[in-house]
Amino acid sequence: MKHKYQNFTIYIENDYESLSHTAAKIIAAQIKERPSGIFGFATGGTPVGTYKCLIEMNKANEIDFSQITTFNLDEYYPINKTNSQSYDFFMKENLFGYVNINHEKIHIPNGEAKDVASECENYECQIADAGGIDFQILGIGLNGHIGFNEPAETFQTFTHYVSLDTTTIEANSRFFESVAEVPKSAITMGIKTIMMSRRILLIINGAQKADIAYETVFGSITPRVPASVLQLHHDVTIVLDREAAEKMLPRI
Ligand code: F6R
Repeated sequence: MKHKYQNFTIYIENDYESLSHTAAKIIAAQIKERPSGIFGFATGGTPVGTYKCLIEMNKANEIDFSQITTFNLDEYYPINKTNSQSYDFFMKENLFGYVNINHEKIHIPNGEAKDVASECENYECQIADAGGIDFQILGIGLNGHIGFNEPAETFQTFTHYVSLDTTTIEANSRFFESVAEVPKSAITMGIKTIMMSRRILLIINGAQKADIAYETVFGSITPRVPASVLQLHHDVTIVLDREAAEKMLPRI
């Protein structure tokens, strides 16, 4: 079901499968509209189903990735690209390894960089040189983080090095053998980098995200809930499953 609430276009789907199909269709339509556009990708559990649908569409020749340029939101730091938990590895495993993308046009912050400050600066410059991001895909953390912009006193603007919140480390430990193995820091696009994207797609799944989904759309705009800044963006589409939308449903 499609709803419009202020700047948000909100799709509420019955389950994870239909959420993934809807999100993939929106991305595919954008790729068709901008075959050589600049696309921002996210990692994490949420977009895996969406990426599976995109792989199927690419196999069926329904979408062509060959001209697009991509920038991923974030990467653990430090981490080797060969580490199966790196976001570089994740993107190959879940999307880039299975579609006709030009690997020279893929950008992911370099978790192996010697100098993290210059890697951040360089990443931001590469985005600017490409002309900015046309379409940014986002997930959301339980604490409202987007990318790895954790709750803070102020919004962090451009690509930067960040210490991860304990809650994020715990949430992400499901992908690792133990909590101790989760990297404690990362490189992430900043809030301004994300907000400068021309269009944003936020995907939210599961009952545990119902509170933060509600806060994002209806709460005060505060760096304590980084995703709340999306209320200030002119073109945000949110795709949720029914469980994640539970709390917001009465108000839209
Ligand atoms: C991933 C990212 C994070 C995730 C968020 C939700 O690139 O930037 O903000 O989107 O942590 O992760 P999942 O989908 O695993 O709940």
